[in-house]
Amino acid sequence: MKLLIGVIIAVVASATIIVALTISKSTITKDSIEVYIPGQGAVLGRIDETSWRQQKFFSFRGIPYAESPKGNLRFKPPKSRSPWYGTFDARDFGKRCPVITNLAQINSSQLKEDLEDCLNLSVYTKNLDIKQPVMFYIYGGGFYNGSASDHLPQHLLEKDIVLVVSQYRIGALGWLTTLTDEMPGNVPVMDLMLALDWVQKYIHLFGGDRKRVTIDGQSAGAAMSGALLLSPKSSEDYFQRSIVQSGSIMASWAINRQPLQQVERICAALACEDCKEKQKQFECLKQVNVLDMLKVTEDESFSPVIGDVQGILPDEPQILLANLNRTIPLMTGFTKHDGSFALATFYNIIVTQYGSILHLTVREFANKLIDIGKDSTGLSNNLLLRLLFKREILDTHNHKAAWPAYIDIANIIFIKSPMIAYANALQRKAGSKPIYFYSFDYMGEHTRFGYEFGNSQYPFEGGVHHSNDNIYLFGTHQLNEKDTKFAKKIVDLWSSFVVNGVPKVEDEEKLLIKPMETESGPYFHVNAAVTLGVDILTELTATVDDPENYKLIIRNDISKHS
Ligand SMILES: *[C@@H]1O[C@H](CO)[C@@H](O)[C@H](O)[C@H]1NC(C)=O
Ligand SMILES: *[C@@H]1O[C@H](CO)[C@@H](O)[C@H](O)[C@H]1NC(C)=O
Ligand SMILES: *[C@@H]1O[C@H](CO)[C@@H](O)[C@H](O)[C@H]1NC(C)=O
Ligand SMILES: *[C@@H]1O[C@H](CO)[C@@H](O)[C@H](O)[C@H]1NC(C)=O
Repeated sequence: MKLLIGVIIAVVASATIIVALTISKSTITKDSIEVYIPGQGAVLGRIDETSWRQQKFFSFRGIPYAESPKGNLRFKPPKSRSPWYGTFDARDFGKRCPVITNLAQINSSQLKEDLEDCLNLSVYTKNLDIKQPVMFYIYGGGFYNGSASDHLPQHLLEKDIVLVVSQYRIGALGWLTTLTDEMPGNVPVMDLMLALDWVQKYIHLFGGDRKRVTIDGQSAGAAMSGALLLSPKSSEDYFQRSIVQSGSIMASWAINRQPLQQVERICAALACEDCKEKQKQFECLKQVNVLDMLKVTEDESFSPVIGDVQGILPDEPQILLANLNRTIPLMTGFTKHDGSFALATFYNIIVTQYGSILHLTVREFANKLIDIGKDSTGLSNNLLLRLLFKREILDTHNHKAAWPAYIDIANIIFIKSPMIAYANALQRKAGSKPIYFYSFDYMGEHTRFGYEFGNSQYPFEGGVHHSNDNIYLFGTHQLNEKDTKFAKKIVDLWSSFVVNGVPKVEDEEKLLIKPMETESGPYFHVNAAVTLGVDILTELTATVDDPENYKLIIRNDISKHS
């Protein structure tokens, strides 16, 4: 039975009159909307406006799709949400999954609530009763942070698409595993699978077409999108296309190589009784208070594991990719200086360890940075030193001259190379579908470098920083006129890929963005004017090749800052 038959939104003069035309299980008033989800319950949404054309759209901010993963469900695969009585109020965002910084901001009575009850998804749509393509967004946040409320829809909803932003478990509460039934591992990937399953079942009630779903993941979310494509447990129905921004399941940071040591270490840090035995680890960890868990894991990093009990990632990503019997259209790319945030973290570690980077030569600093890529053959070290540095500075302490090269190393090791590897592996498959590759080069007023990442004290600038693309895709920042013009372009590119599988810009009719014909190109530059590029490999040296790269070195007297 079709529940929602006809709804029309008529704008008359300055007043907005909203009329439900036909018998419908949805009820619309001036500022709210109720949709009935069969087998679940009713949800109450709100009516919002898009940024540029003030179009009305419906926002459901946090529809539960799973039971709270607390108590016996902690660390376990998510359980579908059971039906609720009455109307679930989704006019405001519910809880984000627990992050230490955000818990610090809440009061003692909120701390006593169920903090783990965060498995919900937000749905945004202008129209409830047509079939629109769906963009399913997967946030980043290093596998320990991220929320739906950080990804606001007012830009993307200018287009006729349905946007879904699903929360998934993060940090220790999501990723800790003993690789046994008690703590099987990779449950955050299963959270997203359950959310995608929810989309298959219910998105038509919100005007979405379940047969045209594009998953879009950024940073850690990009790695999650890779896990969803590669996992043999993922249904082929879940999505038909993928956008991958600034991350890759092939990156060294995307896989946790020592999950068992980690769970033992955290068990011990919590002063649990017997941390040698897996069963005991579980019994202790499952009842630990959320805040305590977050406190002892502040310096831990989390990510997917290989060989989890449920068979989500039964093998190395490159092997799963080689065996994958499926290819899908892909749009993928990085920001020009995508690794500068990682360089900042690395710089911090070196300063903590040595007091000053001046205790290291350029060669030593570069080698330590390259070693994070874990290439034991020395090949990466040798080639990168040869490619990015003037020989004369390698054995000096002239770090100032080396910052652009360091930024390129970080770009290559953490982001660019593993992303190209992912795209190329998909491209090599029989019957491969179009792959569009971009470099995001736009420098606007805002950046995620500095305040937001707490990394402004470094002797270099962040450049076109990690996550700067999202400043324009999502309605989180107040944009000036120039940045607004650019935001319209990136929204065109993303939404046209979601709608047609081809990135396009509305006001650049002559621009024809081509998919890759070889493993290195062509590709395109996402900038104030979108331009075409020939060879994506030239982007590996984007910083050292840039005649204006001196702008990335913000302080002359580095000794003061190292
Ligand atoms: C988010 O989902 C959980 C269920 O997992 C729910 O209990 C919570 O209240 C949710 N949403 C909102 C808007 O509060
Ligand atoms: C998590 O992200 C939020 C922004 O959404 C930020 O305010 C917070 O500081 C971050 N927390 C950590 C631990 O990085
Ligand atoms: C805690 O914060 C919530 C939400 O801001 C508020 O409703 C509540 O009254 C506060 N409780 C206390 C004890 O301060
Ligand atoms: C892919 O197809 C081959 C041949 O049909 C089959 O043997 C193999 O198991 C399939 N792989 C996966 C991961 O489904």
